[in-house]
Amino acid sequence: MRRFFEEELERPSVFRDASKLSPDYVPQVLVHRDEEFRWLVRIFRPLLDNRMSQRVLITGSVGVGKTALARRFGADLEATARGAGMNLSYLHVNCRKDRSYFSVISKIHHHYNPRWPHHGLSPEKLLDMVLTYMKTHDAYLTVGLDEVDYYVQLNGPDLIYALTRAWEDAGTSNRISLIAIARDRKFLERLDLPTQSTFMHNVLELSRYSAGQLRDILSQRVNEAFRPGTVEEDSLGLIADIASSTGDARFALELLWRAGLIADSRGDSSVTPEHVREAKAEVYPVVRRDVVRELFPHEKILLLALCRRLRSSRATHITTEDLERAYIATCEEYAEEPRKKTQFWGYIDRMEGFGIVDVKRTPGVKEVEIGIHDVPITWLEKELEKLLEGRKPKVRARRQS
Ligand SMILES: Nc1ncnc2c1ncn2[C@@H]1O[C@H](COP(=O)(O)OP(=O)(O)O)[C@@H](O)[C@H]1O
Ligand SMILES: [Mg+2]
Repeated sequence: MRRFFEEELERPSVFRDASKLSPDYVPQVLVHRDEEFRWLVRIFRPLLDNRMSQRVLITGSVGVGKTALARRFGADLEATARGAGMNLSYLHVNCRKDRSYFSVISKIHHHYNPRWPHHGLSPEKLLDMVLTYMKTHDAYLTVGLDEVDYYVQLNGPDLIYALTRAWEDAGTSNRISLIAIARDRKFLERLDLPTQSTFMHNVLELSRYSAGQLRDILSQRVNEAFRPGTVEEDSLGLIADIASSTGDARFALELLWRAGLIADSRGDSSVTPEHVREAKAEVYPVVRRDVVRELFPHEKILLLALCRRLRSSRATHITTEDLERAYIATCEEYAEEPRKKTQFWGYIDRMEGFGIVDVKRTPGVKEVEIGIHDVPITWLEKELEKLLEGRKPKVRARRQS
């Protein structure tokens, strides 16, 4: 079988370094975000000048560069501060990965000393150790709390309180700054007023990218990731056009990467618009697979019921009554007890928060309607059925014929 390696590795590829297209890669320069970056620098200036901690909130829809901006800014802030002799570090926390109070606090703890024991210690104790360490080492920390809206939905606001107020008891000035990152400001409603207002003063709203901006982002990445001359100009234009409906750079870069893979698999020497079209057929923006996977079982059932009703009715939205009926029927199929109404609404709220379902509210009308945004329903339905497969009752009562 070794010869397969040789044969495959010898095949020419359009890529020079495909890792430059991975969603985790942060480019040195963010195209079309100069002003936003400068705004952040101005907000954080008092931290560099006078050691005053800061709090900002970055919002915007999927793929507008929230994470990339925070990471780039954090890395450059750290380098600048260290250059000036200040012991400052930036720590980026993805709250979808570290999604409990304990795991976020222990991540911060781990950042300062990976060898410190943390098993069996309470998060309060861990935070206490961090604060003491920071004081004795004159250290400063900026934490990027990415997808913090997801975290607050799940756990409430205690983490934010702990990080912003940890110093009140200690009676010294605050050494922790926060860059909160969320889709929108809605989660702020769950914070108390004083905390809300500290964020409300500094909100950076990132707008969706236009086709022209996406094209520039793509061009920059083509230079890093592809061999010279292997991506046709028209292909970039087409990707930018497709992605401009959502203004999502992640989607654009994913299309570019997939189009490259398709070109390679065909043995073609360049990426053509046809490869882009094929790539588009493979991916769907907005709802990511991992988000669907992490839903609660009853949310999956509810969403599956919604998909099915939408498909059979061919409507964009259905009434909640209609959805409730479909949900109960789907519960039966999975031998699950349907959840109560309040919980049913809780699920809808959460899924709306994640951008999976769309809740249409008409002013003056109490009834709302539920739909699904942007995702092909047949795809979502299949995905959910796969995820729920293990929950189907093994022995099904056979119908008498
Ligand atoms: N202005 C930009 N210049 C270069 N790359 C960008 C820019 N904005 C976003 N990207 C890239 O697009 C992808 C999505 O950005 P990301 O920061 O993950 O978006 P968000 O966090 O808002 O969903 C990432 O691969 C990121 O590197
Ligand atoms: Mg992000």
